[in-house]
Amino acid sequence: MELEPNDARDMLKWLVDAGADEALVDEPVNRFAVAAQAPAPPSGAFREAPVRSFEPAEKPSVDRAAPRRAELQARAPSATPPSAATTSARQLAAACQTLDELRLSLQKFDACALKATAKSTVFADGAADAPVMLIGEAPGRDEDLEGLPFVGRSGQLLDTMLRSIGLDRQTNAYITNVIFWRPPGNRPPTSEEAALCAPFLLRHIELKQPKVLVLLGGTPVKHILNIEEGITRTRGRWARYSVNGVEIPVLPTFHPAYLLRQPSAKRQAWLDLLSLKFKLRELGCL
Ligand code: URA
Repeated sequence: MELEPNDARDMLKWLVDAGADEALVDEPVNRFAVAAQAPAPPSGAFREAPVRSFEPAEKPSVDRAAPRRAELQARAPSATPPSAATTSARQLAAACQTLDELRLSLQKFDACALKATAKSTVFADGAADAPVMLIGEAPGRDEDLEGLPFVGRSGQLLDTMLRSIGLDRQTNAYITNVIFWRPPGNRPPTSEEAALCAPFLLRHIELKQPKVLVLLGGTPVKHILNIEEGITRTRGRWARYSVNGVEIPVLPTFHPAYLLRQPSAKRQAWLDLLSLKFKLRELGCL
């Protein structure tokens, strides 16, 4: 079919409106054809991932999240059997013994549809032995292009915030995301996408063994602490996350992108940073 110039312009506008703001390759790719040829997930070759238990947040004065948490726990994941892709993700993640193995395994993992529209698998950045591990939501455009987390505007703000309390990626901070591929148009990731990335994220924490976790915004709070409460209620309240019997202190705080939109929230973010600094001092890490 021949396209009129106006048709091509309208089509392009439709794609931009739908969130396609980056041309990754010169030729269009039929993703459905690629999906049909995708190899079946490996089976049986790896041991089953250990069951992760999420520790609820350190008791807030009133634990308003408890009924919601109980409801969520009742619904998932035991109520719904995991998909083949989730089982494969668990097996692959559990088989990794080092951060490098985990990075390579993720680069080969094709079951998350986000990978098809992203340029890079964005794994992590920072010092592998850093005491602080920060977890954001998902890579954006800049991160997809560079293959590193938090390199755009919010990343620049995050670096400034970290520097203000003596942290940086070169020496004592390590940064990753809940999702390893950019959602098209920077839309929020779906629960299915988060569920597919979760085994890699949890193994990431296990292998990294941070002394402190910092959760940037509501998405990591939801997927790591299993709390649906909004970030404005959870921020600044220390929680705990248990890995192989070791309790890691967890601090939820605002996502730097939110601080760019709401500069007045920087006051609270600063209090969270101070709290992080005191915790690190208490633990002898700063
Ligand atoms: N926002 C995130 O949550 N993560 C990034 O890596 C960049 C922006």
